[in-house]
Amino acid sequence: MTPRPYALLAELTYRCPLHCPYCSNPATHTGGEELSLDEWTRVFAEAAALGVLHLGLSGGEPLARRDLPKLVTAARQVGLYTNLITSGVGLDANRARELQAAGLDSVQISFQSDDPAQGNTIAGSKAHDAKLKAVRLVHDHGLALSLNVVIHRLNIDRLPQIIAFAESLRPERLELANVQYHGWALRNRNQLLPTREQAQTALLVAQKAQARLKGKMDVVYVLPDYLQDRPKPCMQGWGRHYLTVNPAGDVLPCPNAGSIPDLVFENIRQGSLASIWNESANFNRFRGTEWMPVPCRDCPQREIDFGGCRCQAALLTGQAAATDPVCALSPDREIVDRILDHAWRTEPDDGLVFRQNPQAVLS
Ligand SMILES: C[S@@+](CC[C@H](N)C(=O)[O-])C[C@H]1O[C@@H](n2cnc3c(N)ncnc32)[C@H](O)[C@@H]1O
Ligand code: SF4
Ligand code: SF4
Repeated sequence: MTPRPYALLAELTYRCPLHCPYCSNPATHTGGEELSLDEWTRVFAEAAALGVLHLGLSGGEPLARRDLPKLVTAARQVGLYTNLITSGVGLDANRARELQAAGLDSVQISFQSDDPAQGNTIAGSKAHDAKLKAVRLVHDHGLALSLNVVIHRLNIDRLPQIIAFAESLRPERLELANVQYHGWALRNRNQLLPTREQAQTALLVAQKAQARLKGKMDVVYVLPDYLQDRPKPCMQGWGRHYLTVNPAGDVLPCPNAGSIPDLVFENIRQGSLASIWNESANFNRFRGTEWMPVPCRDCPQREIDFGGCRCQAALLTGQAAATDPVCALSPDREIVDRILDHAWRTEPDDGLVFRQNPQAVLS
């Protein structure tokens, strides 16, 4: 039986004023105009009818869509919980009021660092103060706040300061997400991968903070997966609970699935969300365990991690159906070990490529 999706990630646009070198998203989309308000309204209604409860409004920068409050209204009208996933840049008092009036439930704001200078450098833009202002507006308008900080070799040593900074901003939840190596992050992988010592220290810092802040602020720590010996249960399984619609209307099992070369995804302009979710050959391709190769096929972990990430398998081995090479049981694990060796010999500020600005280097 086809599982029921419970969360939709709506990538409203790939436009963004920031230039994060770890950004997992492309800077532009192909396949025509961004979906219109009417098209998104249809997508939200079809998602709710399919059983989706939670909507992430993301990008790029979702605040770049002038019609964002109308999009929130459309989602609330069909009963979706709405979470705005934003850099905070572009939120002013007017927009905060409009979003609150539209029924927005919560806001996740990302920071690059606790330190303004480092934050601005990593964002490739003077964004830190605008983010602080956005946090204040979220509180002033009574919206639930969570924070996200992407962690990598350039900021991982500041984890204690980042956690203290986050605490001072009073979010309900703090997500410390080690970089996932897709998109721009893949281009900057050598500079962004933390060392093993950095990762071990950071894990202890995160665990202590989780214990100390229990009941006050949820601290979620996403491990740096190249440094693990088992993969993540990516998306809790392909086509199981999550779906993404990108700015051009392609429907994907995860935001990065567009990077898998031999998969062409269906578009919401050509079919209903239900027919794509239930019948798409691409959604069905990696559902369940039938598709799995050895060693996953006979492994007791196969219903726990689902063989890891299909995008990562495709990127690193050329085969989307391979065992995620992060797994120590994968015959391709040596690919990851070679990447780590090479990265640890690269200087962190050596030729960092910023999103949308291939010439810029960190200096
Ligand atoms: C693609 S961004 C779009 C929303 C908004 N522009 C922002 O950055 O908050 C969505 C979320 O993914 C995070 N993110 C981006 N690239 C990432 C990566 N390579 N690994 C882990 N998280 C990433 C961002 O920090 C943000 O919380
Ligand atoms: S991660 Fe950075 S560059 Fe990417 S969309 Fe978000 S703010 Fe923009
Ligand atoms: S062999 Fe496959 S199922 Fe087993 S732990 Fe590794 S990735 Fe997971």
